[in-house]
Amino acid sequence: MDIKELIKRNHEWAENIANTDPDFFPTLAAQQKPEFLWIGCSDSRVPANQVVDLDPGEVFVHRNVSNMVIHTDMNMLSVVQFAVEILEVKHIIIVGHYGCGGVRAAMEQGENGLIDNWLLDIKDTIYHHRKALANITDYEEKVDRVCELNVIQQVYNLSHTNIVQKAWRNNKRLQIHGWCYGLNNGKVKDLEVTVDSAEKLKDIYRYKVE
Ligand code: CO
Repeated sequence: MDIKELIKRNHEWAENIANTDPDFFPTLAAQQKPEFLWIGCSDSRVPANQVVDLDPGEVFVHRNVSNMVIHTDMNMLSVVQFAVEILEVKHIIIVGHYGCGGVRAAMEQGENGLIDNWLLDIKDTIYHHRKALANITDYEEKVDRVCELNVIQQVYNLSHTNIVQKAWRNNKRLQIHGWCYGLNNGKVKDLEVTVDSAEKLKDIYRYKVE
């Protein structure tokens, strides 16, 4: 597709919306008040707004390879802080997807370059769950289980940040959810690992503030 085609499509899209609802863009331009922060994979097949059928303005989005929450990632931390403290989102959703290429790469021993370092946290997860994973004989099934385990680990990683714990301490309603998206049917599965307080966190990860 020619790049000019994208501009043409954009103008048609904007005009269609403006024709249906002339206030749509002026209202959005004045302020954003999304209730959701989506942390998902960069994979082109998992577009945040479309998957949950939300309009512009309804979901704040951060995406990287394999939907990671790496504690030293200033980009992710800045997005989370802004979303929690300024936008006051009520839900953060970590959205992985089955068949994730980053997860596949982490499961193998081939060297791929810089990305290997980014994916090391997934190798840690695989190692941590090696006994349970050894019982899965079908390789694709194993890939999908690691995709789920990775999401669950990222939910924990996020709940361990002082940004999230500060929000809970200040009695802000904030839930962190873990989902996994099916590329072959377009549906998300709730992994039912929602965290909404520091209560269940291991002591070592809990901040105690007077
Ligand atoms: Co992916």
